[in-house]
Amino acid sequence: MALFITFEGLDHSGKSTQVRRLESRLQRAGRSVLVLREPGGTPVGETIRHILLDKGTHGLTDAAEVFLFSASRAQLVEYVIRPALEKGQAVICDRFFDSTTAYQGAGRGIPADIIRTVNRWATGGLTPHVTFFLDISPAEVQRRMHAAATRRDRMESGGDDFYGRVRERYLGLAKEEARFKVIDGTRTVEAIEQEIWKHVEAMMTEEKHATT
Ligand code: TMP
Repeated sequence: MALFITFEGLDHSGKSTQVRRLESRLQRAGRSVLVLREPGGTPVGETIRHILLDKGTHGLTDAAEVFLFSASRAQLVEYVIRPALEKGQAVICDRFFDSTTAYQGAGRGIPADIIRTVNRWATGGLTPHVTFFLDISPAEVQRRMHAAATRRDRMESGGDDFYGRVRERYLGLAKEEARFKVIDGTRTVEAIEQEIWKHVEAMMTEEKHATT
């Protein structure tokens, strides 16, 4: 059974930890799993990632930013995600088109209809089966960035206003889309892992019943 799972959230929301934990859980359940992150995951995508995140990239327009994220995504869908799903692998992707809706749409203020069209075009309509949104506040983002004491990349330079708009859009998506699951990102890593696993296990059980 093909399973396409995505993770979304503000920067430092704990996505990558949960992606690894879900990967282990799925493997222990006997599933073949492919883990990916956006932007990147293909040779072209990794080059684009560098352009997008490098603080040395100056003067990128909002439109160019949308097209670059979407170009990376188009490569990933065509060459990696679709082939893996066709083989029946489970695919976990750290960010997907909802990031463009939230960051470029709400964060940068690009009209929703343009974002919707570009997202659909880049993915050929491929939509995740489930999307876990790890919810933390903009203040928590700043606290974690400070604690991590790593150099901020180009996309992490937004302030509370920017992150506030991005978060509101994610919460809006959660109301619009049944696939969206809002997870309180301030709980312990173990509690979050357990909650996510409960959802995924239920999906796998449902699927098994549907096919037997
Ligand atoms: P990461 O920190 O999860 O690796 O994501 C890279 C950054 O790129 C993060 O700040 C979110 C941002 N981003 C967008 O603005 N739009 C997108 O479509 C994607 C995939 C990421």
